[in-house]
Amino acid sequence: MKQSINFEGIAKEFLESLGVVVIIDTESRIIYMTEKYAELFDISKPYPIGRRLYEYVPSESLSAVIHTGKESVEEFFEHDGKTMVINRLLIRKGDEVLGGAAFTSTSSRLSLKQLESKMSFLNKQVQFYRDNYFENTGTKFNIDQIITQDHELKNLIAFTKKAAKTRSAILIYGESGTGKELFAHSIHNLSMRVKMPFVILNCAAIPENLLESELFGYAEGAFTGALKGGKKGKIEQADGGTLLLDEINSMPLQLQAKLLRVVQEKEIQVIGGKNKVIDVRFVFTTNQDLAEMVKEGKFREDLYYRINVVELRIPPLRQRMGDIPPLVNHFIEKLNEELGSHITGVDKKALELLESYQWPGNVRELENMIERAFNYTNSGELSLEDFERLRLKISISENTLENNFTLRAAREDAEKLAILRALKQTKGNKKKAADLLDIDRSILYDKMKRFHLR
Ligand SMILES: Nc1ncnc2c1ncn2[C@@H]1O[C@H](COP(=O)(O)OP(=O)(O)OP(=O)(O)O)[C@@H](O)[C@H]1O
Ligand SMILES: [Mg+2]
Repeated sequence: MKQSINFEGIAKEFLESLGVVVIIDTESRIIYMTEKYAELFDISKPYPIGRRLYEYVPSESLSAVIHTGKESVEEFFEHDGKTMVINRLLIRKGDEVLGGAAFTSTSSRLSLKQLESKMSFLNKQVQFYRDNYFENTGTKFNIDQIITQDHELKNLIAFTKKAAKTRSAILIYGESGTGKELFAHSIHNLSMRVKMPFVILNCAAIPENLLESELFGYAEGAFTGALKGGKKGKIEQADGGTLLLDEINSMPLQLQAKLLRVVQEKEIQVIGGKNKVIDVRFVFTTNQDLAEMVKEGKFREDLYYRINVVELRIPPLRQRMGDIPPLVNHFIEKLNEELGSHITGVDKKALELLESYQWPGNVRELENMIERAFNYTNSGELSLEDFERLRLKISISENTLENNFTLRAAREDAEKLAILRALKQTKGNKKKAADLLDIDRSILYDKMKRFHLR
């Protein structure tokens, strides 16, 4: 018996089997969409046949294909965290365009899962190389970026240039924000190892229990949760190049013993693995006096002598106040470029203020202050009013330094803050500031004098 054939039904099943498919006419009206398509874009039944596709899927580009006539084949398309390979083709009859169809590639549809996992693997790899590219090249800072007019610091730079050429370990000592990292990067750049890796490990930033495996790496199966194939430690990554152990003063004693072995014998023992000979130049930084720490039993004496072969002591900013003008200009230039502003410098009074502060956070603190001041102005000179925060800091520290916990001191601090805010608001106009504060102008003058608010 001859069976009747349901041509439409079969054609529909075929379209459904293709996966994500949509067909539109030249006016972008939806002719057909598969269940998978509707599911992907959260379109519920009954499907909006005859409506414009872009109303339902604003990101669609099939309409554009009809307008431009540019078809596309096997293009990646991402939606909702899923990656697909999509074809967008015109539907023609002779020379006439009737509409367009977008559909996932059959071949890629079958292996979508594999494709997705491959993409995610590649993305991870790219991220890894991107991270390591910046970490492993010595190009972040070089010695010419160290701005100074100070005699002592200039001598230190000259000495660094010589010391960098040797393979001795170098210890850089300086308060926070004095430029230790700048020196460390420069040492690598100036050395014969410049083309080799430059690896950084900040001993203070990593939890103690992870520090050892970060440093030495581990072999496959060394412990539960160990990565397949093991993991290379920073020392091994730096083989042939330079390893910067930042803030070495934070390294726990027990690990110091293991590090000593490496520095002494040029050999590492990978956790759960074999010994390996390595060739690494060590640079250390510390913001605490290691000699003091040795006396207090917080740092191993034998390690101290090993790493202190060459010592660079960077003087704090308060001991080289002459560096303030060139540093200020340097940061202004840098920020103008970054922010597209047109600051020409700092005025006399503002400079006097900058030069009257002790800068416990050194160059980093100065850089932050200038950056803050940029929030208030974007052309001309920076003036006193732009350094409101610094004025407050100086003024409040006078009370704090005297260990003054009285209610009067607290009231004074609050008054200082209010006065500085008012002055900022009125761009330094004292008459208007007094009005804002609702006090007499003479009282404002008195208070400013008493609080050294110039
Ligand atoms: N002489 C200098 N010339 C130009 N920029 C400097 C100078 N010294 C420090 N800087 C800048 O100041 C900031 C702090 O410097 P760096 O990070 O090297 O300090 P650090 O001594 O490592 O501080 P920490 O102990 O807090 O880590 C950086 O942005 C650095 O570029
Ligand atoms: Mg640092």
